[in-house]
Amino acid sequence: MCTMASGIVNGIGGVRAQSFTFRYQSSITSGKTVPMKTNHFFLSISLFVLMLAAAMFAQVSPAPSANLALTPPMGWNSWNKFACNVSEDMIKGMADAVVKSGMKDAGYVYVNIDDCWQVSRDASGNVVADPQRFPHGMKAVGDYIHSLGLKFGVYSDAGSKTCAGRPGGLGHEYQDAIQYAAWGVDYLKYDWCNTTTQDARASYANIRAALDASGRPIVLSICEWGTAKPWLWGKEVGGNLWRTTGDIQDRWGGQEKWPDGSCCSNGVLSILDQQVGLQSYAGPGHWNDPDMLEVGNGGMSDVEYRSHFSLWALLAAPLLAGNDLRSMSPAIHDILTNKEVIAVDQDPLGREGERVAKNGDLEVWAKQLKDGGRAVVLLNRGAGEQEITANWEDLGYPSTISASVRDLWQHKDLGKSTGKFSARVASHGVVMVTVKP
Ligand code: GLA
Repeated sequence: MCTMASGIVNGIGGVRAQSFTFRYQSSITSGKTVPMKTNHFFLSISLFVLMLAAAMFAQVSPAPSANLALTPPMGWNSWNKFACNVSEDMIKGMADAVVKSGMKDAGYVYVNIDDCWQVSRDASGNVVADPQRFPHGMKAVGDYIHSLGLKFGVYSDAGSKTCAGRPGGLGHEYQDAIQYAAWGVDYLKYDWCNTTTQDARASYANIRAALDASGRPIVLSICEWGTAKPWLWGKEVGGNLWRTTGDIQDRWGGQEKWPDGSCCSNGVLSILDQQVGLQSYAGPGHWNDPDMLEVGNGGMSDVEYRSHFSLWALLAAPLLAGNDLRSMSPAIHDILTNKEVIAVDQDPLGREGERVAKNGDLEVWAKQLKDGGRAVVLLNRGAGEQEITANWEDLGYPSTISASVRDLWQHKDLGKSTGKFSARVASHGVVMVTVKP
């Protein structure tokens, strides 16, 4: 037995398999000549055992993507403000601004280029970055982003073309993954345009396998707009986040048709309503994605942007800023870098919050925190200021207990309350607190 074990170890180098076979046989054949056939037999057994050991090792060794996005990813993405107007200079300027504005210190780490960085494929099928807009290529952009201690994201599409008509990934998944890894890509947003009859689950499993085969840990953002309910399978196929809805637009209200008449873009409230009931699907490493932030893009008031940001944090949503960080107002800066609100989003328990009470336009949203406390958002969707009450029982606490309340926008302890907490809330505004028994 012992000889056999050491034989396996010896055999791992391959070259020594023969010497093991010889020693093993000599001990059982008492020096008799061993026929070649037996030699082959033992060699095959050794190789089989080795392959089995290798297969077992492969099974237990985690994929490079294990343990990614244990809290919701935070960063910046080009689409909401710049659409196809992306370039090396702009992206580098934005990466600088992530650092200079204090956003890096607040937790924002990914700098993600959305659609339109790519123009074609070369004769070997390699994806080609726009040579005018990215004259030094994508690796140079990634290197610059990494030199600032940030991470680099790119965008592609599971179909033949991206939504803006650029080359998609279909049929090039493994080739692209190798390319991304060579560029130092840390995050891939994978869209769902031009996918005709493709199966969503299989397509995203395929790109995850390709990314893992590249050997580089790469966050996979499934951008399938919720059509095939990715919350039901996104985690299983190795997605780290999945869009739950169609695209956000920089406005407060409901759904509206796109200019071409197709349905529909979503305001903040419309996206919010589509999150109801999805909370159990989110957790460390796999998040519901209600789309990127519009904070600071000009279509809403600062009050509405504060609500948008508070609600996304309560939903444990990925926080991907989408504004021009090089020129934001102090009010927008203070919203995006509110560390107390960000801490709710990034709470390590990884629970997504949910709507726990609704009375017409007045709503209470709550999220369980790791320390046993709750983050609570009182939301007033109506036209005038109103008082809103969060009852302890709606938060999962007995009404008899006393708990400390802290206002996360005023950065102020509000003392202890028993049974409930009430506040006056501006139209389209929120009051956001933590409640700690
Ligand atoms: C889709 C996505 C958006 C954006 C664009 C780019 O609409 O949902 O987030 O990536 O494509 O073309």
